[in-house]
Amino acid sequence: MSAHFPYSQACENNKAPILERLREIFDTPGRVLEVGTGTGQHAVHFAQAMPHLQWQPTDHPHAVDTCRPRLAHAALPNILPALELDVATSPWPVESFTWAFSANTAHIMAWEEVEQMFRNIGERLPKDGAFCLYGPFNYQGRYTSESNRQFDQHLKANAAHMGIRDMEDIRTLAEGVGLTLSEDHTMPANNRLLVFRKHS
Ligand SMILES: C[S@@+](CC[C@H](N)C(=O)[O-])C[C@H]1O[C@@H](n2cnc3c(N)ncnc32)[C@H](O)[C@@H]1O
Repeated sequence: MSAHFPYSQACENNKAPILERLREIFDTPGRVLEVGTGTGQHAVHFAQAMPHLQWQPTDHPHAVDTCRPRLAHAALPNILPALELDVATSPWPVESFTWAFSANTAHIMAWEEVEQMFRNIGERLPKDGAFCLYGPFNYQGRYTSESNRQFDQHLKANAAHMGIRDMEDIRTLAEGVGLTLSEDHTMPANNRLLVFRKHS
């Protein structure tokens, strides 16, 4: 991909392993809400590989322009125009979707914003849908690697509201908004893919 678009090396590295999982989970036609699209590398890669999906990129109003040049260049028929979405602001500009995806956002958002993300997705996700949340997580208060410990310290030094979340806190939050953690996949580079579905 041309170097003049905003670029993330991490996205380049993780997009293939994430796609392998999403193919199994987003297995029927539907609209995917992406929260925190960032550079748009994930949106382009996943929409191209899964033409049965309609990909809805969104990002915080301060950040949404980051993805637009790449998405315009890709010009894929199944990527919708990127929308401004601050998870903490009501009402959300997207009412319905079958699937939801967000990568590397839970440790960047304040915890109250993570709560809002889950609450709003929980309200809108249909029974047969799923919400996939990718990123680093702690387990029972413990880091899963030294690099994650260093990353967490770096985040907290930059802004006190950021930090790697405990999977158990996320699972409890999800339970409270009608979502069950149905899968927890180990991913490369000490990341996870958490999959949430509506309570049956
Ligand atoms: C580390 S970047 C990850 C971007 C991309 N998903 C990736 O994996 O490379 C974090 C993203 O979360 C978004 N974000 C932070 N706070 C947000 C909020 N309150 N509402 C929506 N998006 C938010 C940022 O704008 C940014 O796009």
